[in-house]
Amino acid sequence: FCNLDKAWLGTPIEELNRIPQCAPPLSHLKATPNHTVTVRTDLLREGEVPTPYPSKFRDMWDDMSVKMPCSEKNLFPLETEDGSGFQSRWELIHTALRRGFKSCLDVRDAILRYNTAHAKKWDFTALNLFCTEYLEHCEVQQLFESVLPAMVDLALSAPRLCTTPIPLLKSGMHHSLTLSQEQIACLLANAFFCTFPRRNSRRSEYCNYPEINFYSLLTEAIKRIFAFIFGQIFSFAVCLPKLHRSLEGSLSCGLRFILPPVDFANRFVGGGVTGHGLVQEEIRFLINPELIVSRLFTEALEHNECLIVTGTEQYSKYSGYAESYKWQESFKDETPRDDWQRRCTEIVAIDAVKYRHFLEQFLPEKITRELNKAYCGFYRSNINVKHLPAVATGNWGCGAFGGDTRLKALIQLMAAAQAGRDVAYFTFGDAQLMRDVHEMHTFLTERRVTVGHLYSLLNHYFDEECKNCRTARPHVTLYSFIFEKVSAPAASNPEQDSSTSR
Ligand code: AR6
Repeated sequence: FCNLDKAWLGTPIEELNRIPQCAPPLSHLKATPNHTVTVRTDLLREGEVPTPYPSKFRDMWDDMSVKMPCSEKNLFPLETEDGSGFQSRWELIHTALRRGFKSCLDVRDAILRYNTAHAKKWDFTALNLFCTEYLEHCEVQQLFESVLPAMVDLALSAPRLCTTPIPLLKSGMHHSLTLSQEQIACLLANAFFCTFPRRNSRRSEYCNYPEINFYSLLTEAIKRIFAFIFGQIFSFAVCLPKLHRSLEGSLSCGLRFILPPVDFANRFVGGGVTGHGLVQEEIRFLINPELIVSRLFTEALEHNECLIVTGTEQYSKYSGYAESYKWQESFKDETPRDDWQRRCTEIVAIDAVKYRHFLEQFLPEKITRELNKAYCGFYRSNINVKHLPAVATGNWGCGAFGGDTRLKALIQLMAAAQAGRDVAYFTFGDAQLMRDVHEMHTFLTERRVTVGHLYSLLNHYFDEECKNCRTARPHVTLYSFIFEKVSAPAASNPEQDSSTSR
């Protein structure tokens, strides 16, 4: 961080808890009813590729597990006259992918051989453009001669690598899943070749899950995924808390934004990453592409749910944002690994509510919803708060989802305070916001305003300034309202205020 006066305010970032330094020692990795582990835990060694567990593929074709492309039950209609009979779809996938590719048309043809129903709808222009316009001649050669064949090998090794049935993380479930990076690479290679059964239609049994097959890939996305697959193939062998608000990251290399590990998510995690979106969540999923595999098994998040992903690696550097987003170059992630051989990174996906009208978000039930969602993301059961890193976040829900930055900053501060964690808040270049939040935080801390009192003030703000408001925005801003109410000698006593109880 750049400690120019103007770049940050509040507690110096070095004084906030950070992983891995603050993390408690990990217990031995072991599978439990609530934790599926797909590798041999007894053979985990630093620098070695984990061994899949069990040694033979266990086929599970039910509504609790991911339906795998290599399942015996994955069938494809035979091309007989009366349309009767079935053949193994995995065998068809094998034959189609093993024929080799000389051009991206061959890739398209192969994918469509086992996805015939989608031949008319799927558009492979992006892949075509990627090969014809973005890549240099020698890169195209490398793509067809080494990268794609290696990806085919990876995809087809699913029955050898992904032997444990992968549980679906359904809403209402509290479950952990540990996969190796090699297994994730294999699953993503399958996603690239669109082999996952029942995942091509929004009306299918997986309608409440994100898309996983990459049929609508954009060019930028393709580049990231390749950077990842390259990385895998060539590197796998080695296998009211304290508050820090920051404007941006390193100023020395131009205006570069730090991507906070709170994922400003869609309820379908990853949002538009395999399609069109390119804002905070999609960028994060592109530069840390192992996150994409979460789309395979994570059901749409409910209001009281979040997804925590530990150990993903960053493979790419980027610049810009949304339309100006550009992949820059491959990145070598040097983040240390923990005792389970995971990178010491944690990304938490929490989805805000999308607001069309500014006033809507001040409704008490909306505020409660966002508070609960942020709290789900920040709270950790069974971990002493002194071992929890500061929450690094920013304008959650305030871009594509239209939320108010000042309200969301307060909500996140309240949730973090309640969860016992400090906050590093990144305002992404908005200096005024940084000053405003800092001023509000200092004021609330000095006046010892509690989370409960603040919650009742938010309710009063709705009653007094929003409920009967005829204009698009209230006349009095939230922060001036809070300053005034707390400063007034007759400031409401939270203990007597019924609206503080939740
Ligand atoms: N660079 C600059 N600003 C950023 C960056 C960054 N890398 N990351 C975040 N911000 P947004 P949302 C700031 O719109 O409103 C996705 O499609 C910036 O101030 O990504 O919660 C998801 O899948 C920006 O305006 O989050 C969801 O569908 C703000 O953070 C949806 O968007 C919000 O970023 C979520 O939208």
